[in-house]
Amino acid sequence: MASISQLKKEFQKELKKVKNLKKLDSLFKKYLGKKGKVTRVLRSLKEIKKEKRVRLGKKANDFKIFVNKKIKERKQKLKEKIQQESLDKKQIDVTRPGKKIFLGHLHPLTIVMRQVEEIFQSMGFSVIEGPEIENEWYNFDALNIPPDHPARDLWNTLWLKLQNQKSKIKNQKLLLRTHTSPVQVRFMKKNNPPLRIIVPGRAFRHEATDAAHESDFYQVEGLMVDKDISVANFKAVIKRFFRKFFKKPIKIRLNPDYFPFTEPSFEVDITCLTCGGKGCSACERKGWMEMMGAGMVHPNVFKAAGLNPKNWQGFAFGMGLGRLVMMKYKINDIRLLRSGDLRFLKQF
Ligand code: FA5
Repeated sequence: MASISQLKKEFQKELKKVKNLKKLDSLFKKYLGKKGKVTRVLRSLKEIKKEKRVRLGKKANDFKIFVNKKIKERKQKLKEKIQQESLDKKQIDVTRPGKKIFLGHLHPLTIVMRQVEEIFQSMGFSVIEGPEIENEWYNFDALNIPPDHPARDLWNTLWLKLQNQKSKIKNQKLLLRTHTSPVQVRFMKKNNPPLRIIVPGRAFRHEATDAAHESDFYQVEGLMVDKDISVANFKAVIKRFFRKFFKKPIKIRLNPDYFPFTEPSFEVDITCLTCGGKGCSACERKGWMEMMGAGMVHPNVFKAAGLNPKNWQGFAFGMGLGRLVMMKYKINDIRLLRSGDLRFLKQF
């Protein structure tokens, strides 16, 4: 059997030649495996005399430790080399197509709101905003709806019960505005006619939802005041708006209606574009879709704004933005717009 020093020389020579982990493993087995060279030396110890056994045993054990240590070191170096080689190979391929970043887009209500603003701006109207939390006076009294008038019930009001409620006007209760009309008086109080404004914004009503109604919805208020304004002016402006918005002439009809803040008052319908006038769930099978309430500004509204009704005339309207979106994109249920359903929204 070869001596330990001979085995050590052989091992060192072989170790130098090892170039990969597989060969290193074989070398480990060759020396320290079950039938390995060092193992065999250790097993043979019991056959030799005690004196020699102790000396040889120590030498063999030291060698075993040495082999283990060297193999471990080489293993570490080989692993580092492999890692470095793979890093060197990894070059950036600039011709590879990039990963697409998902881009969001505007909500259909925003798209339509911007189009409405653009069209009215092209006709000389300014875009104005007003508060969503309103007080009773602006939402009702200033609009010629006194406290005990039954017309108040037409607007299913959501009243606010706030702690430390503070309204600028004494004893005025706060509410979520039921329409955008309060901004008419807010604006006229601070700005003298002639004027042309539109007021896009949210309105809130305590009412059951259906295909054409939501409890939280968008309206666009319109107001034009000058010395000599008539229903003919209103019809001209609104027809022009619909033609520009739908990019084709649109059939409209004016039905007599009642609003305390306009006289005369009317409801404006357009042919239902979802069904082409045949009747569908969106238009409640009527073939017509109610788009807005409108009329000539009531003298009491001018008075509430501090203007002399003898000097001024004007028309006002309040249009449902959601209904406009429904007609534009042929959507048969207004509730889809705020449903948060991405399958629906991704189509715009
Ligand atoms: C009003 O809100 C009046 N302020 C409109 C007005 C303004 C009349 C200026 C005269 C002068 P009305 O409740 O009819 O009126 O609502 C106006 C429009 O808002 C409706 O034609 C409809 O398009 C839309 N609308 C009303 N209620 C809802 C609702 N719950 N969900 C969605 N849209 C609605």
